[in-house]
Amino acid sequence: EERLEQIAALPKTELHLHFEGAAPPGFIRGLAKEKHVDLSGIFNRDGSYAYRDFVHFLSVYEAATSVLKTPDDYARLTTAVLEECAKNGVIYAETFLSPDFCGGGDVPAWREYLHAIREAADAAERDMGITLRGVVTCIRHFGPDKAKRAALCAAETAGDWLCGFGMAGDENRGEQKDFAYSFDMAREAGLGLTSHACEWRGASEARNAIRDLGVSRIGHGVRAIADPATVEMIAEEGITLEVCPGSNVFLGVFPSLKDHPIERLRKAGVKVTVSTDDPPFFHTTMRKEYTDLAKTFGWDEADFLEINRNAMHAAFCDDATRDAIL
Ligand code: ADE
Ligand code: ZN
Repeated sequence: EERLEQIAALPKTELHLHFEGAAPPGFIRGLAKEKHVDLSGIFNRDGSYAYRDFVHFLSVYEAATSVLKTPDDYARLTTAVLEECAKNGVIYAETFLSPDFCGGGDVPAWREYLHAIREAADAAERDMGITLRGVVTCIRHFGPDKAKRAALCAAETAGDWLCGFGMAGDENRGEQKDFAYSFDMAREAGLGLTSHACEWRGASEARNAIRDLGVSRIGHGVRAIADPATVEMIAEEGITLEVCPGSNVFLGVFPSLKDHPIERLRKAGVKVTVSTDDPPFFHTTMRKEYTDLAKTFGWDEADFLEINRNAMHAAFCDDATRDAIL
């Protein structure tokens, strides 16, 4: 249909994209073959990633990441990921990068990975017209000590390109406040802050992330819908939600897109944005997210413009970059 084709073709911005989670399965399989690593257990027969549930997804993610061993591997990953983004009409993306996977939390090693990623990203910006920025991410189930090392890497490399600090991983382990030290260090380094919350646990997680970590954005945040007072607080404080509808439906957080709260949150005055999370793992793309939302909620071009404006206002990049995209 013509209307949906126009929606699919809109320029898009994406704030919530896990870098390794965006790796096409064929890319990871190719690296495994080159390095003689047997990763057959993490693929289905059709070549897609195989996992049973969210916790198993996290371990398959880490297995896939195990073949990304050098800065050059990450440079190649950068090109592969940005080609996919550009194909989907994405013009600005922020991606989660983890020192835990890039050098194991060692600052000099981290600098080498970051340099390789930036070089590949700068080339992609010239060739494909897509702007990428990095958000250093600690992994909740790796614990607060590893998070401090990630925060130190972030503080040492904070600047125009590396513009945020966040937390991903298993929300059912530990508490947001266990990571306050790391978020304080990142804030003092001038980084924007975001944390995964209310993907799996209830509304209190979002309140804790705001109160204990001082985030301006929340990764997902969608289960806050169960508590109207929390939704109101998120709206009043101007917190932006990085909503990943396809991810939520694929992982069973909500049974279908029509049951997903993105439209109810928006109507309640919450600033929502749209992202893919880990696109090949959840069999989604930004084009698919946009057309599914248009079909399910009747969103038109003006609605998507609002979504993209929300994203750029909440983006952690500098104002010159923001203004060039807006
Ligand atoms: N790491 C990669 N994707 C994630 C998600 N959706 N939630 C938490 N941690 C993640
Ligand atoms: Zn995520």
